[in-house]
Amino acid sequence: MLNVPKAQFIYLQRPDNGEWLTIGRYQVGSAVGTGSFRYTHNYVHADLPWVIDPVNLPFLTEDDQSAPRYSGLHDVLRDACPDAWGQTLLQREHSLPEGTHQARYLILASNADRWGALAVGTKPTPSIAQTSYPRLQQLPLVARELAALSEQRPALSLGLRRQLIRAAAIGGARPKATLRDDEGQYWLVKPRISSDITDIPALEHFAQQWGAASGLHFASTLLHTIKEGHSAVSVLRYDRVGERRLMCVSTASLLQTEYPDNLGQTDLWSYPRLADALRIIGAPEEDRRELFGRMVFNAICGNDDDHVRNHAIVYKHEQRRWRLTPAFDVVPNPVETPRKLTLQLSNGRFDISRSAVLADADRFGFSSSEEAANYLDMLMVQVTNGFDQVAHWLEHDGQQMLRTRMTQNVALLAAISKHDI
Ligand SMILES: Nc1ncnc2c1ncn2[C@@H]1O[C@H](COP(=O)(O)OP(=O)(O)OP(=O)(O)O)[C@@H](O)[C@H]1O
Ligand SMILES: [Mg+2]
Repeated sequence: MLNVPKAQFIYLQRPDNGEWLTIGRYQVGSAVGTGSFRYTHNYVHADLPWVIDPVNLPFLTEDDQSAPRYSGLHDVLRDACPDAWGQTLLQREHSLPEGTHQARYLILASNADRWGALAVGTKPTPSIAQTSYPRLQQLPLVARELAALSEQRPALSLGLRRQLIRAAAIGGARPKATLRDDEGQYWLVKPRISSDITDIPALEHFAQQWGAASGLHFASTLLHTIKEGHSAVSVLRYDRVGERRLMCVSTASLLQTEYPDNLGQTDLWSYPRLADALRIIGAPEEDRRELFGRMVFNAICGNDDDHVRNHAIVYKHEQRRWRLTPAFDVVPNPVETPRKLTLQLSNGRFDISRSAVLADADRFGFSSSEEAANYLDMLMVQVTNGFDQVAHWLEHDGQQMLRTRMTQNVALLAAISKHDI
């Protein structure tokens, strides 16, 4: 019924030497909505330190571990599947019905461009398809082909279209592709689409530059103007170092919740919970402060698309630990100034206010509320100064709109409310 082969082998590119290893097996269960994973005997006995998900599959055991979410697919394997964009392409390509099991997308998506360092196959020994990536210089062609694909128009270049469909394993809702630059770095390219009411790539580039100018750790971006009114943003991939793939886990997985939310569990979506998870998995304190900074930045710029697949961790072999990835997909709401974020700023509170930002400050590693308040005040100065450095990336109206929003939100975050007394 599911049309999913019984057992799938899970491969990992070793963080130390880049060799591919078979580390586990995933099996769809015979009861509907169940599935199990086990690390392989050889991997468990190889005396290697890496687990693929430090929260949900943290023990190197040969026991079957069942999947509590995603109708029986383990969180980290769901992370290696496409989201809305890639799933749409696979649905068209393979005539899949609505409601197709996630495990089917896991298998149908090509290993060539999966997020992170996992791959999937039916053979006990790793076999990872190689693909050639379009070059960054080909970006205008890629953007046109992505537009044609998303509007269901015929291919402009059949070869490029095949390449783009093959590489549609990465997540997110917008059309996107991975391109390679002359130095061998990989960039995620997201062009403007016809339904965008404003120049979203410019807004994303601006916000990423603004975050960096505010002293936060944001992924590098480039803005490309293709022709009048057509633009694309490219974001440096943090899960690639040249050809080497780095293990990643989404914060949906860290928070043990589904995205999209099919379970009505947004009460689990929370920055302080995420900070707790970072502490528990051994990320350094600076990552919790950085997360606090991103929460404040999202509040100030009005990015209320800060959902649980828009934050992630990456395994850094040289440090032997998981780290928060650089910030990505930070886009101020182009339509209205949000009053709330998607993740709670403190327990039970989604509202953008000073008291909500500071209520759980200890969970982000601050030793006192005074220390957190001082950090918040310092950050607001940096974000305000950062704006002027990068405002030129926006047209006049966009600048005005966001400057006004920033001023209002900084006033909100500086205000002492009755909660603070
Ligand atoms: N710089 C990056 N390096 C590696 N992976 C990335 C990077 N940026 C995004 N990703 C991965 O790709 C996915 C989709 O990217 P992104 O969130 O930018 O796309 P989107 O289509 O705008 O998303 P959304 O559905 O949230 O609007 C992310 O959830 C993340 O897993
Ligand atoms: Mg996203």
